[in-house]
Amino acid sequence: MAKLAINGGPVFRKKPFPAWPPYDDRERRYLLQALKERRWGGYPAPNKRAAAFAEKFAKYHGARFGICCANGSVSLEIALRAAGLAGGDEVIVPPLTWTATGLAAVWLNAVPVFADIDPETYCIDPADIERKITPKTRAIICVHLGSNMCDMDAIMKIAGERNLVVVEDCAHAHGGFWKGKGAGSIGHFGSFSFQSSKLMTAGEGGIVTTNDPDFAERCHSLVNCGRKEKGYDSYEGHLLGWNYRITEFQAALLEAQLEKLKKFTALREKNARYLSKLLSAIPGVSLLRRDPRMTVMPCYQYLFRYHEHQWRGLTRDRFVAALAAEGMHHVEGDFYVPLYQNPLFYVTARDYPAIRERYGEILYMSKDIRCPVSEHVGYHESVWVHYSLLMGTKKDVDDVAGAIRKIRENLGELLEGDTAIKSRWKKK
Ligand SMILES: Cc1ncc(COP(=O)(O)O)c(C=O)c1O
Repeated sequence: MAKLAINGGPVFRKKPFPAWPPYDDRERRYLLQALKERRWGGYPAPNKRAAAFAEKFAKYHGARFGICCANGSVSLEIALRAAGLAGGDEVIVPPLTWTATGLAAVWLNAVPVFADIDPETYCIDPADIERKITPKTRAIICVHLGSNMCDMDAIMKIAGERNLVVVEDCAHAHGGFWKGKGAGSIGHFGSFSFQSSKLMTAGEGGIVTTNDPDFAERCHSLVNCGRKEKGYDSYEGHLLGWNYRITEFQAALLEAQLEKLKKFTALREKNARYLSKLLSAIPGVSLLRRDPRMTVMPCYQYLFRYHEHQWRGLTRDRFVAALAAEGMHHVEGDFYVPLYQNPLFYVTARDYPAIRERYGEILYMSKDIRCPVSEHVGYHESVWVHYSLLMGTKKDVDDVAGAIRKIRENLGELLEGDTAIKSRWKKK
């Protein structure tokens, strides 16, 4: 009789994990207040709640200014526009990320250039950034990935020497700190998402952070159709803006969540550290390196490394499928594949002519781009555990590790039916 749930055996964890996103009476109260205030939209911008929230959020992370916007995709675009980037400029990005990180450059007819990730942290590798710099390079977008933060010391040093703009993509990093400095306060810009899956969410939403008043004014204008609003009107010239404002309902939800961010971050960090301890004792998986300079771990997705060769050839994706069957929903393998091989990154020179010079007619699946670490990690190695599994008790974390152990102990049962693996391993 089968032991593993994927083969019809008993499910290891039947009880659901904590509901997500969490909310309580605070969200209810603030939403109701916003309703009664009858000032629902984002205009005049920034509207009252959005302005108050932005100020508090920026302060929490140690940045001087915060500018709310529609989502964490346009926040990247706004940052690049505010920095004055234009068509043909090159922007260095990691490949293992969501499409928006690279597409932010594409929208400006700028050119994304891929620097590989560090195999030990999965964040962009500063040494590869250096290799990818050309006379056209104007900016770096670094992504604080999963539960890790980029080596901001090295990145800021490279940027300072070359006069490059640094945008921290903090879509995964609300509440994270590097050497006591908040995510989004170290680079020239920080960009956060409040989309449904994120550590703080209003369903949709985003924010740009910066310490530079001129950049902040430009961001305000870009979010508000190019207007120069009172209080945000001292910079020279006009910008072509768009309506990227958020509603007061979004701001109300975010206000409530910001007040809980510290508590929830501490809970996730505690559970993540415990999970690391448990995983260290399981063969076939290993931990990412946690840089001690990361003083607070944000923990959007807990990432660990799966080593196929230590599982007698069982693929990462089959392992993840078996894990899901044991009740570990929100655990994924190919959460990200390298951007230049992601069908949602279908960038052509017809639509974005600046890419022609570097990539020819089409960037997607370009044969000239190779980031071997990102490819191995994206297709074979990374396992992503969504933070909702780390928002409960110690027992919940025990169950995550327990489910992995169960698969390990019954590996033979999984390999049994897998004729492809059997023949591949016999040959070796
Ligand atoms: C790393 C990264 N950057 C940017 C974004 C874009 O954010 P949004 O979905 O709010 O547009 C996301 C969202 O998934 C993300 O994960």
